[in-house]
Amino acid sequence: MPGETARGSAEAEKRLAAARAVELVRDGMVVGLGTGSTASEAIRLLGDRVKDGLRIRGVPTSEVTRKLARECGIPMVGLGDVPRVDVTIDGADEIDPQMRLIKGGGGALLREKIVASASGMLIIIADASKVVQQLGAFPLPVEVVPFALAPVKRAIEKLGAKVVLRGGDNAPYVTVDGHFILDCAFKRIEEPEALAATLAATPGVVDTGLFLGMADMIVIGRADQVKTYKRPKAQNQP
Ligand code: A5P
Repeated sequence: MPGETARGSAEAEKRLAAARAVELVRDGMVVGLGTGSTASEAIRLLGDRVKDGLRIRGVPTSEVTRKLARECGIPMVGLGDVPRVDVTIDGADEIDPQMRLIKGGGGALLREKIVASASGMLIIIADASKVVQQLGAFPLPVEVVPFALAPVKRAIEKLGAKVVLRGGDNAPYVTVDGHFILDCAFKRIEEPEALAATLAATPGVVDTGLFLGMADMIVIGRADQVKTYKRPKAQNQP
């Protein structure tokens, strides 16, 4: 991923990446439908294939996505209706060379992570601007139980981040599951796994936008090219 410089428009790159990922969807699959502008490109392309006869069922990760998928004619199911999700296609806010991600800029991180975890395969699609050498320039979204807002904010500030309540104190953004989001500007996250563990152990933190070891494939649109990166199989895996 590193070291590439030519850029097209971000929108064109998103469409290219989405098109490549959508090619991997087969008849009969249950497909996790991500949230955000890049995932929306994939949903529109999946809708075109459904109109051409592809039979899939989608699991939306947000109400915005549910609405778009409905408009695109994609039949939808819930996680309780299917034994598993075959593949999820979603975007990301940052992607590092180890295929670690920051997600949640659109506020859907919790459901995105739940659907991704239930999926046989997670494909992340993005324009080239999302590729970084180190996570952290994009403020990390942390989803919090409202009752715990003050202590969680203080705890994260002690870790060195500038912390902002999404939406502001007077009109905080509330997730579909009734939580708040703290956007935590670390600038550089030296050890994403350690930070994820620390945050997960903080009472009141519901989840974070760190998606570590979850992406199976990254598809990047860069100028008029698409590059695909696969997660290497674990060494002790048969
Ligand atoms: C939504 O909550 C996010 O995780 C998105 O996947 C992420 O913000 C990428 O969005 P764009 O594709 O709009 O950049």
